[in-house]
Parts: sequence; C-alpha cells; structure tokens
Amino acid sequence: MRFLRTPHVAMTALATVLACGLLSAPAKAEPTVEVLHYWTSGGESKAAGALRQDFEAAGGKWMDAPVAGGGGDAASTVLRSRVLAGDPPNAVQLKGPNIKDWAAQDKLANLDDVAKAEGWEKILPPLILDVVKYKGHFVAVPVNIHRVNWLWINPQVFAKVGVSAPKTWDEFNAVAGKLKAAGIIPLAHGGQPWQDATLFENVVLGLGGPDFYRKALVEQDKKALTGDTMIKVFDQMRKLRGFIDDGFPGREWNRAAALLMNGQAGMQIMGDWAKGELLAAGKVSGKDFVCAQMPGQAGYIVNSDSFVMFKSGNADRSAGQALLAKLILGQKFQETFNLLKGSIPARQDMARDKFDDCAVKSMDDLKSAVAANGLVPSMAHEMAVPGAVRGAFLDVVTSHFNSSMTSQDAVKKLAEAVDLAK
Ligand code: BGC
Repeated sequence: MRFLRTPHVAMTALATVLACGLLSAPAKAEPTVEVLHYWTSGGESKAAGALRQDFEAAGGKWMDAPVAGGGGDAASTVLRSRVLAGDPPNAVQLKGPNIKDWAAQDKLANLDDVAKAEGWEKILPPLILDVVKYKGHFVAVPVNIHRVNWLWINPQVFAKVGVSAPKTWDEFNAVAGKLKAAGIIPLAHGGQPWQDATLFENVVLGLGGPDFYRKALVEQDKKALTGDTMIKVFDQMRKLRGFIDDGFPGREWNRAAALLMNGQAGMQIMGDWAKGELLAAGKVSGKDFVCAQMPGQAGYIVNSDSFVMFKSGNADRSAGQALLAKLILGQKFQETFNLLKGSIPARQDMARDKFDDCAVKSMDDLKSAVAANGLVPSMAHEMAVPGAVRGAFLDVVTSHFNSSMTSQDAVKKLAEAVDLAK
C-alpha cells in the first residue's frame, strides 16, 4: 500500500492537516448573548450587574443592550423594531401575555431541555408556571416576583409631622393633607402613564377588593368599568393628583424615590423595585424607610420579570441562551439578584434568612393571598391583559389624571377605549 510504503510522506501530510485544524474536534461553542433589558436605575443596574457577573464567571460573553425607561414601554418599542429588522436580541426581559404573544409568532426558543435538567416544574409555583409556558412548553425563565401594592413611607418625616401609616383611603387623605400643610410633598410620583396606572390599580384593589379588580382590570366587565366603585376610584385618583408636586411631569420613578429618601416627600406608591433603589442608596428598611400595606387592601398585585430567548440559529448564541436560562433559576443567583432588586425569588425552595422584613412579608402575604383568592395580576406591569387593552387603560387613566376630566367622563371613556382595543 502506498501509505505503508511512504510513511514519512503520509505523516507529513497528516501533520499538515492537523496543523490546519481540519481534523480537530468541531470548535466548542462560545456562549454569547445580547441582552435587552430596562434595568437602568441605581438598584436595577446593580441587580442586572449581578446576572452579568455570574454569566461571565461561567465563561459567557455578555453584550449589554439596556433601554432606559422604567416599566419597559421604551424597551418594547425597541424590541418590536429589532424583530421587524430581522435582528432580535438573544435574551429579552419580557412579561405576562407578551410572552405568549411572541411564542405564538414562533419567535421564541424552546427551553424544555434546560427546564427538565434543572427541575423547573418542581421549583416554580403554579402562578409563575402559567406565565412562562406556552402550549405546555417552557418559553421563558422567571427571575423574580415583585409586589406592586406597597406604600413606602419615610418614618422621619412621619414622626416630624406626627402621623402614622394610613389603613384606609380616608386616613390616607387625612395624612396626606397634614403632610401638605407641613410643606412636605405627600406623595412622591413621576409623570409617566405606567406610573399613573400603578396608582390606579392600587386604588382599584383598595376600594374594590380582588373580585372587583379582576372583573374590571382583567375581564373588562362593562358594569365594573362604569359602575359606582369605578367612579369612586377616579375620585380618589383626582385627590392623589392634589398630593403630588408640580415638578412631576416626565419624572422617572427612581427620581420620585429620591424625593422620598431625602425627606422632601412622605410617601410613594410603587412596586418593591423601589426598595432596591433605596437599598442601593444605602438606606435601611425599618430605619430610613418603611414598607406598609396599601390602604384598605388585603390582596397581592403580582408582577414577575422573565427572560425569553429569541430563536437565533447560531451555536454560540444558543449556548449562551441555555447558560443564561440555567443561571437565572439557580439558587445562588435567585438569592443575590432578589436581595438587590427588592423582589422575592421566583423559585419556592429558597432559604429566607438573608431577606429583610419587607421581603418576608411579601413571601407570607403571597401565600395567604393565594389561599384566600386575593392574588391579582398587575395591569400596569403587563401581567394581566394584552398590550392594546393595557394601552387603552393607560391612555384614559393618564388623560384623566392630567386634566380636569370628571370621574363620570373617565368611566365612559374607559369602557369605550377598552372595548375598541379588545
Ligand atoms: C419591572 C421591574 C422594574 C420596574 C421599573 C417593572 O415593570 O417589572 O423589574 O424595576 O418596572 O423599571
């Protein structure tokens, strides 16, 4: 055989082939992801930084694609244009019905393999499983559970004015009146539709209770949208408008949180990402701020952040997506991230000892709300209804808040706008 007769020639040829890498094992994928998110405030970026750090420590390459603007409305616009241009980011922060929408368009990678390997089915509560699965398959990985119904209080301001945490909306209005008379902004608020909607859903739950909330904001029942309770909700929104300073238009939620922490304002109604902001500024729960139950409320407004992975067809990107999904639901990351973010872990088998009083209350209240049928999804934070219906709610709530529209006109407009959007 020619090969045996001229071994040195064959060996030289083999060496050349090896040197050129032609016979070497296929190159190992380099896990890479471009991550579209809207965690850009002080507390949020610390939490997002923890995810990036874990990913890089595990050998991944992270390309950051942040879009400023709380609540994610600006990020949604960027996402839509990137998908239209045929260039979706690989990992995208997304929530609620939006997850199923993108899954229905067949844009999302199936995460069943990593879910199976990591036992997601066993560690996630039903309320979260419902959000992250589409037609029985995992298409998103949940990061956390945020509670939207919190009243944040500056205890030094309250002590100075001699008021305590209000338990009803009448008490809230009385406390706010006293703060105002003392020259303090009663309610720290920013001027963005999603922030107005955050106030609105809190008032809906406080004045109407969980059943009314579901009827009005989830099912868009016409009677609930136009009846006496909804009129009272808009009356209370008008009162809230009177407790906010004139500098609020365009203000971001974290700048509103700054008013609370520096004592210019007494209260803020916001989800517990506000706690992440206060902690990032070195504030301490129970001393510098208090997380109080919202007036008149027993339920729990839930909001959960997730990541979806857009299909990529690229081995490095797919490896990056699988690595990221695995890390996100790991116990270590769930603890580090949620301690920074102000939320509680999405997985249910976590130790509680490192979490503060607000987080422990959130964990306990979530359990009791589930048991008492008091758990409701956040409309303002994209957990309850499709984007078009949410848009209709936000338009009417914001126009009412920023004009002299009567409550009677507001409920009429609300029913019409929601009907058109359905
Ligand atoms: C998100 C939070 C975020 C907040 C403000 C909410 O809708 O769920 O993760 O911190 O908006 O940007």
